[in-house]
Amino acid sequence: MDIKNLISQMTLEEMASLCSGADFWHTKAVERLGIPQMMVSDGPHGLRKQDLSSDNFNQSIKAVCFPAACALACSFDKDLIFRLGEALGNECQAEDVGVILGPGANIKRSPLCGRNFEYFSEDPYLASNIAASHIKGVQSRNVGTSLKHFLANNQENRRMSVSAQISERALHEIYLAAFETAVKEAQPWTVMCSYNKVNGVYSSENPWSLTEILREKWGFGGFVVSDWGAVSDRVKGLPAGLDLEMPSSGGVNDARLVEAVKVGQLPEEALDLACERILTIVERYLSGRDESAVWDKDADHELSAEISAQCMVLLKNQDRILPLDKGRKIAFIGKFAETPRYQGGGSSHINSFKVTDALSASEKYTKVGYAQGYRTDEDVTDQALLDEAVELAAQSEIAVVFAGLTDLFESEGFDRTHMGIPSCQNELIERICDVQPNTVVVLHNGSPVEMPWLSRVKAVLECYLGGQAVGEAQCRILFGEESPSGKLAETFPKKLSDNPSFLNFPGEGDLVEYNEGIFVGYRYYDYKDMDVLFPFGFGLSYTTFEYSDLRVNADSFSPDEGLEVRLTVKNTGDMAGREAVQLYVSDCKSSVIRPVKELKGFEKIYLEPGQSREVVFRLDRRSFTFYSEKIHDWFAESGDFQILIGSSSRDIRLSRTVTMVSQEALPFRADPNTTMGDILDNEKARPHIQKLIDDYISAMNMESDMSELGEATKLMMEAQLRDNPLHVMVSFSGGKVTHEDIAQICQAINQEFSD
Ligand code: BGC
Repeated sequence: MDIKNLISQMTLEEMASLCSGADFWHTKAVERLGIPQMMVSDGPHGLRKQDLSSDNFNQSIKAVCFPAACALACSFDKDLIFRLGEALGNECQAEDVGVILGPGANIKRSPLCGRNFEYFSEDPYLASNIAASHIKGVQSRNVGTSLKHFLANNQENRRMSVSAQISERALHEIYLAAFETAVKEAQPWTVMCSYNKVNGVYSSENPWSLTEILREKWGFGGFVVSDWGAVSDRVKGLPAGLDLEMPSSGGVNDARLVEAVKVGQLPEEALDLACERILTIVERYLSGRDESAVWDKDADHELSAEISAQCMVLLKNQDRILPLDKGRKIAFIGKFAETPRYQGGGSSHINSFKVTDALSASEKYTKVGYAQGYRTDEDVTDQALLDEAVELAAQSEIAVVFAGLTDLFESEGFDRTHMGIPSCQNELIERICDVQPNTVVVLHNGSPVEMPWLSRVKAVLECYLGGQAVGEAQCRILFGEESPSGKLAETFPKKLSDNPSFLNFPGEGDLVEYNEGIFVGYRYYDYKDMDVLFPFGFGLSYTTFEYSDLRVNADSFSPDEGLEVRLTVKNTGDMAGREAVQLYVSDCKSSVIRPVKELKGFEKIYLEPGQSREVVFRLDRRSFTFYSEKIHDWFAESGDFQILIGSSSRDIRLSRTVTMVSQEALPFRADPNTTMGDILDNEKARPHIQKLIDDYISAMNMESDMSELGEATKLMMEAQLRDNPLHVMVSFSGGKVTHEDIAQICQAINQEFSD
């Protein structure tokens, strides 16, 4: 396809028309020029392709539902997620879908966001790296992805109009960072802008996010598509960087584009560029089509089970109650054992071709009893169901309760109002604990939940939303065919009010202020030294791992050299297992407030009993920098850093201090209003002020006074001296320090920084 030539042959109307969808799921064709349509489909954890024999655009074909993003991230496994992507790409090839709409990389800011199940993590490094693997996997099959929802779609409440008010630093360190690696490393074919506004500007018409950041800073080369219906002002959006409007606005917005070009409000080149970007992807789709692709649904179902099992997080396992002893009398209790909740509601909903529940999957292992226990259509206790379940639990030796959030509690379109699971389920678990000391809870949810019964149950297996093969995966873990190896991709706080966004979620009216800044998730709980229910990165195993021999390639390094870190992990238990090894970096002393530690590397390894493996991490400049609003960029500050190797964020097994030597300096300007403290804290500026301080102390005859003062008074005076702006020295010294002295000092300091 000679794209430039094609564009030169298109009329203005054809160009404007190409920039919006033909219908809900297709780009437009330009038949006279031989440009075909391209189909896009949701995503992201399965193929939600519209059944074209149906008029209902929500009626999708039978497909395979993989675990949702909330579960996938817990694998901490890039290779596994790549394999998921490959399978999705293959499914798209078989169904002639050009772009699958996902993955979603938004940060899980609050446990309440209704769409958290579609998002990976509270941590941008994990979210972006998992998203990158997902994208690379899909695109390895020559099918595009649409990384979404760019930017800061962290709640459902007023998602189409709310403005997320976020500081520059938090945007870069948290919310943009969640997308950045995925864009830079995996180059998604498309990016989907979000519905909401960021700092007052709709994401669909924000030149800063869509052009300056995405294209100019990160080198994004695909097209930007609007979330469905996210276009507010199409004429503003196009030059800002929004190429394709979805779905179709029936020609209304196309006509506005044409008019804007005609009256000189919109340069025609902006339209050329958007068409070029769209056609580049259409061309990529055409040339990558694989008509021989076959969709083996059973194979993908098996992959879904494999992935699901590797994402499950064992949160508690007292007395090693798990794996279940098949020789004992076991009861499965709870509707989710028979009808699991394995995916969330909304645009990601997959029409699964089959679903395996734990109850039928258990037949392969042993015979279990079953009682439904609770209803899922409303949160009321059904006394008959409850009594039946309690009786069964009492007659059994182990009760496994399948619980969690129902679709009424969590979905696209609305946020949760609290962090609890349905009260009828909490009541059921408590009543079962009254009669059965060996109670295990198996959870289905897309985001953290409170566990009021935690101390009374022996084990908790967090499955998140595990996809259509969830029952098989659960039984593999419960009956010990496989050791659990998922780790939490988010903190479970003890209660909702502990969460850093609590006071500002979901905001007031159309404004939500992200006042917690960079302190999202564990960054906050760690800084506050707060007890949590389960920390980020936590997950138990049936085996044990020993960490040893932490080595670095240099004790001192420059930001450009970065650092190589190695360690050895050994499986010291008696069962094969996987371990997600985590690397955190902690800045020992910084000129700005920083999180106690931040995830900068993770590796999932498989080890047979007794086997050891070396794990290698390569840390680059970015692993050590912070975003400085002074330079509007990442800044590498010299100093000591701790390399922390953990089995979770709160189980650090090895550590080592290294030194980064950086030549970088932040700009500094002194004027009479600059405080003494700011100057004293700056290594280059400090020498220029020393004489002034000495003169001041002697002019004030303070040397002798100081020695007679008590410690507290000294402290107070020193603190006051630090807080004084330079000009105050004139009056405090009774004019002995002059305005001219101060002007000279400022000049000398400023000279130093301009050199
Ligand atoms: C959702 C997107 C989805 C699109 C198409 C929107 O409402 O926010 O995630 O891809 O619909 O279904």
